[in-house]
Amino acid sequence: MSEFIAKLPKVELHMHIEGSMMPAMLLQLAEKNKVNIPYETLEEVEKAYQFKDLTEFVNIYLQGTEVIKSAEDFYVLTMEYLHKCQKQNIQHTEVFCDIRTYVDRGLPPEMVIEGIEAGFKDGLSQLGITGGMIPCFIRHEGAEKAWEDWQFYQQHTQRFLGIGLAAVEVGFPASMFNELFLEVRATGLPVVAHAGEEGSADYIWSAIRDIEVDRIDHGIKALEDPELVKYLQQTQIPLTVCPCSNTALHVFKSMDQHVIGQMLDLGLNVTINSDDPAHFGAYLQENMEAVQQHCGITDEQIIRMTYNAIDASFADAQRKNELAKNLDFYLESLSN
Ligand code: ADE
Ligand code: ZN
Repeated sequence: MSEFIAKLPKVELHMHIEGSMMPAMLLQLAEKNKVNIPYETLEEVEKAYQFKDLTEFVNIYLQGTEVIKSAEDFYVLTMEYLHKCQKQNIQHTEVFCDIRTYVDRGLPPEMVIEGIEAGFKDGLSQLGITGGMIPCFIRHEGAEKAWEDWQFYQQHTQRFLGIGLAAVEVGFPASMFNELFLEVRATGLPVVAHAGEEGSADYIWSAIRDIEVDRIDHGIKALEDPELVKYLQQTQIPLTVCPCSNTALHVFKSMDQHVIGQMLDLGLNVTINSDDPAHFGAYLQENMEAVQQHCGITDEQIIRMTYNAIDASFADAQRKNELAKNLDFYLESLSN
């Protein structure tokens, strides 16, 4: 374990709340809510958390969400993740959620936001952690379902940090949702989208041109297109890169093939994140350690990515200032 990384004050910008459901929590919620799942032991769940690609992962991930039935369940899940944040000194975190998964099962969409919101309220008062939620549209469900989701989301915009686009990417470019995101943007909410995770650089262009994203989630395929690299260098659009997710979903064969070092060398605005820490067996700290061990990422680059994450967060100016000061203070304490 790296003591430098363990103590570093951190910020996470890309983490799906159901992706923090550890095997023990999955079994516990299944028992409580009397949901039949195809696993009986921790070992069986851990074995199932092996994925061929993004589509297979999304299917297993969505199957796991069947154990979640109430706002209380979302609260428990959020608190478990925020306690983990405290252990890893993650001081601010922005988590993805969606309602489509639950609406399709006849469950009330309010339960998602009520549970996560209650978690963040206690996370702030008990642990001093700030952040909030970014509800997503599920892109492979198509634009019509996303419009339905928006009918709900738009009644609660003040409870969200932004709106996102997630799930299966290839075949579902951001351009499918351009009119919807015009409406989203008109509310003043920031927009983020998964792009260039499995899909080509064109998917990143679509997120930029068709829905005018404020941040790109993943963006690792940007290096395929020199024009796009130039554009990202000039605009400094933040990229929320998730290294252990990318190797778990076989976008790269192994961590030493990950392009995060090249992205940093090119001056792109890279941040580091966990995506689905329970499924990929790595929270933010382990993601940072993995790129140090296998990609030659230095402490200075970890620091740079942490300042990038503070800047790219949707925290208000006062909180950003505080987060930057906490980081400055930590770095000063090392040099004394
Ligand atoms: N939902 C949860 N994790 C995801 C990922 N890595 N990509 C797209 N959608 C997701
Ligand atoms: Zn993601």
